[in-house]
Amino acid sequence: MEAKKIRSTFIEFFQSKQHHYVPSSPIVVKNDPTLMFTNAGMNQFKDAFLGNEIAKYPRVANSQKCLRVSGKHNDLEEVGVDTYHHTMFEMLGNWSFGDYFKKEAIEWAWELLTEVYGLDKDRLYVSVFQGDAGDNLGMDQEAYDLWKAIVPEDRIIMGSKKDNFWEMGDVGPCGPCSEIHIDLRSDAERAQLAGKDLVNNDHEQVIEIWNLVFMQFNRVSDGSLKPLPATHVDTGMGFERLVRAVQHKSSNYDTDLFAPFLAALAKKSGKVYGEDLSTDIAFRVIVDHIRAISFTIADGQLPSNNKAGYVIRRILRRAVRYGYTFLGFHEPFLHELTPLIAANFGDIFPEVRQQQEFIAKVIFEEEASFLRTLDNGLKMLDQIKADLKATNENVISGKTAFDLYDTFGFPLDLTSLIARENGLSLDEKGFAVEMEAQKTRSRAASESETGDWVMVNEDQGVEFVGYDYLKAHCQIIKYRVVSDKKGDKYQLVLDKTPFYAESGGQVGDTGWLISETEKVKVIDTKRENDLIVHFVENLPKNPEAQFGAEVDAAKRFATENNHTATHLLQAALKEVLGDHIQQRGSLVN
Ligand code: ALA
Repeated sequence: MEAKKIRSTFIEFFQSKQHHYVPSSPIVVKNDPTLMFTNAGMNQFKDAFLGNEIAKYPRVANSQKCLRVSGKHNDLEEVGVDTYHHTMFEMLGNWSFGDYFKKEAIEWAWELLTEVYGLDKDRLYVSVFQGDAGDNLGMDQEAYDLWKAIVPEDRIIMGSKKDNFWEMGDVGPCGPCSEIHIDLRSDAERAQLAGKDLVNNDHEQVIEIWNLVFMQFNRVSDGSLKPLPATHVDTGMGFERLVRAVQHKSSNYDTDLFAPFLAALAKKSGKVYGEDLSTDIAFRVIVDHIRAISFTIADGQLPSNNKAGYVIRRILRRAVRYGYTFLGFHEPFLHELTPLIAANFGDIFPEVRQQQEFIAKVIFEEEASFLRTLDNGLKMLDQIKADLKATNENVISGKTAFDLYDTFGFPLDLTSLIARENGLSLDEKGFAVEMEAQKTRSRAASESETGDWVMVNEDQGVEFVGYDYLKAHCQIIKYRVVSDKKGDKYQLVLDKTPFYAESGGQVGDTGWLISETEKVKVIDTKRENDLIVHFVENLPKNPEAQFGAEVDAAKRFATENNHTATHLLQAALKEVLGDHIQQRGSLVN
């Protein structure tokens, strides 16, 4: 079965069980400060789980573009070195929002894997949450009993909180889970050692394919669990791993998802995939990373010097560096793979086809500039070598290596490789010390802490009236404190608000909250998922009071005009220069 068919079969199976297909949400997250990139299929449904929003459909299925390169779920360093982790991957998922629960989730997962995809029952193992004293949770007996009715008991594995309690991040919806693992070793290997002993042991051939999460709790910032208003199902199956299992391959990279990319690289480099470990890793790093880079650029995240943009820049540089060192690519090469991205993924993710040219241009520019950096770094290393020779030394200091890295983006492993080639050594410990010191500096500069919401008045939903009014009577529903180096600020949610939250490129309103006894300045308004969050420097002394919310009308008017003008300028640029002009953000404040 081809990968495309495997994907559509998943969707059709759940459609036949009354699930509604929804497209993948963007891989770049805009409205959730707890995440940089989508790291799971459930991200777009977070509010439905938390009860902040009523789900549009009680049952949903999709294939979500995910990226696990930052925060709680980070696989970057494994990628390419092994054969089953990826930066960008597709997560196939089915969801129930307060509808079905463990029984259907478990039975349907089994039916799809064994009857539809025809996976060998004899190779599958399942795991169940064993409970956790710290969280005061018992074992998941219900899941255990449901599995017992389907598989022999010696195929059920009890798992700890680390493997069998799924959380999106440090805070947010979570719950016990049941995973399905597959043993893809040969029969001879399987006869020697039971696959059960290899589950969750980092074995390349015994891997998790599907995670069924039973959402029951919200983890709040003091670390405790609060029960959710209803129970839900959140499942995630690694598409690339499923394809490998269905196609009987021993590596994700041997499936038809990666084959065309490997072939293109082999042709260009004149090297053969599968002959040498270092070049194989380089092949895998590149064919993996080109997907992450292309999909994030298509969703509006360009490589840059900070935050999400910097993560993308690092992934891109990792790919260029592997190509440079192991495949001999000293000229830009990554961008040449973008037509393959469009051809292979354009049907299910049309954005990569629509923006193919743009993606290629951005990648080309980045590659060219990084290759220049590499060249400069090499020249500088020549100077460093000469200096060392003059003083009869043979160790490149940690500080010198760190300066090369920090100022010129010159990666440590390349410095170390060149040092070795020249009979020099490198003080890696000294480098690590410099690195840690820099991290501490930047952490101190950027750290902020967000407290839990404190309820003030009953939450009956938020009403936005700002299209028609610039003033409204309101109450504060809840507030929280956000602390950073500069001090404390507060965020407020109102039951009714005329304040327009920053969106679509229009900056948020400012204004005042006025009660009988006080006047508090609102310095900004932003969206967080479905909440409209008002930023204030001082918490009202009497937050339960009735307030008049008043937008700064002159500023709103100027903001609207400027915002409209931005769109007009954009339209004019398109008209004059062509459709490839894309707006990638604007700030007119
Ligand atoms: N949200 C679950 C996961 O990412 C399904 O594994």
